[in-house]
Amino acid sequence: AFGAVQKAPEDPLFGLMAAYRADKDPKKVDLGIGAYRDNNAVPWILPVVKKADDILHSDPDLNHEYLPIAGLADFTSASQKLIFGADSPAIQEKRVASLQTISGTGANHLGGLFLSRFYNPSTSEGKTIYLSSPTWANHNQIFSNVHLPIKNYPYFSKDTKGLDFDGMIGTLKSAPEGSIILLHACAHNPTGVDPTQDQWKQIATVMKQRQQFPFFDCAYQGFASGSLSTDNWAIRHFVEQGFELLVAQSYAKNFGLYGERAGCFHFVTSPGSHASETTASVASQLAILQRSEISNPPAYGARVASTVLNNPQLFSEWEGDLRTMSGRIIEMRQALRAKLEEMQTPGKWNHITDQIGMFSFTGLSESQVLALREKYHVYMTKNGRISMAGLNTNNVDYFAKAVDAVVRE
Ligand code: LMR
Repeated sequence: AFGAVQKAPEDPLFGLMAAYRADKDPKKVDLGIGAYRDNNAVPWILPVVKKADDILHSDPDLNHEYLPIAGLADFTSASQKLIFGADSPAIQEKRVASLQTISGTGANHLGGLFLSRFYNPSTSEGKTIYLSSPTWANHNQIFSNVHLPIKNYPYFSKDTKGLDFDGMIGTLKSAPEGSIILLHACAHNPTGVDPTQDQWKQIATVMKQRQQFPFFDCAYQGFASGSLSTDNWAIRHFVEQGFELLVAQSYAKNFGLYGERAGCFHFVTSPGSHASETTASVASQLAILQRSEISNPPAYGARVASTVLNNPQLFSEWEGDLRTMSGRIIEMRQALRAKLEEMQTPGKWNHITDQIGMFSFTGLSESQVLALREKYHVYMTKNGRISMAGLNTNNVDYFAKAVDAVVRE
């Protein structure tokens, strides 16, 4: 009955990870998946996460019971505050419904499923989700799995290696009323290019005129500006403007809880007399979707994050750990650019330090990426994205020299 099933291509990121692991060359460099590495190229357990582990393990009442369908309440309420700000009127007015999810992927999926079932835009063409071009590869699969039609808006300018703001705003202006627009809250994946606050204001103005629906993916809060609240400026601005919106939140990167799958999904409705009733109804439907798919979310990662988020002392230690990670990444940006400029590698390299967050979109072509892999054992995605955290003081010069060589070929 399944003879016609065709072999699917390997996942671009997890396939790359497997290829890197199989490579026996000691010089190999992993710039593939977006996971933080320390200066010795090994995973880093945040010191504050170790403390939370110890606190949890010393609790005699800790057990393996089910969490509620919507997840750990202390975790979801702290997650709301982290996303919208502790004094957000949306929280105070009970206009936010939040469910713990299987990290950011689960939150994107729950949002997509919810939209495919319940979203009723003013025009039927409006029930289309617009993704940035390029975007995180999984976005396409997640939204096509729930049968949402997908279109793209321009995002990255190949010339400036910065934001194609005119292209983006032009597409938003011409997209049908009510269209769903997926926006990266900060530290855009894969480009490392974000709109300025002024550009975000213009995006919000156009989307309001067009009655478009924002869906924010927030996977890198704490990796962009160095301040958790500044990183979420765009989300908070849209909430202030009275939008109804969705947020998918991941704790994979900012807590280093990759495999624990800790994340949260938030629905916000606009202010108004029935806002809290609408929110409660939506929350009840989201709970039914969640129950049928995962029943209830996994406990451990949420307990770790909740322990930190709800303790002011641990919270400030977490901010220090975030600065350690983002600071080392910035140093590697500077070192890579300096080395390329010192060697006078053909091309301009200012974008390496202009871009922010976990990634740099280098501008290297697919054939250059393949040459780097075959000749130099450097692993990065075909689109030229590098995970900056894979660079360190031991390999940054080796990588720069390899880039120099393939660019000159
Ligand atoms: C990435 O883009 O490398 C990460 O978000 C990991 C993933 O799940 O794809």
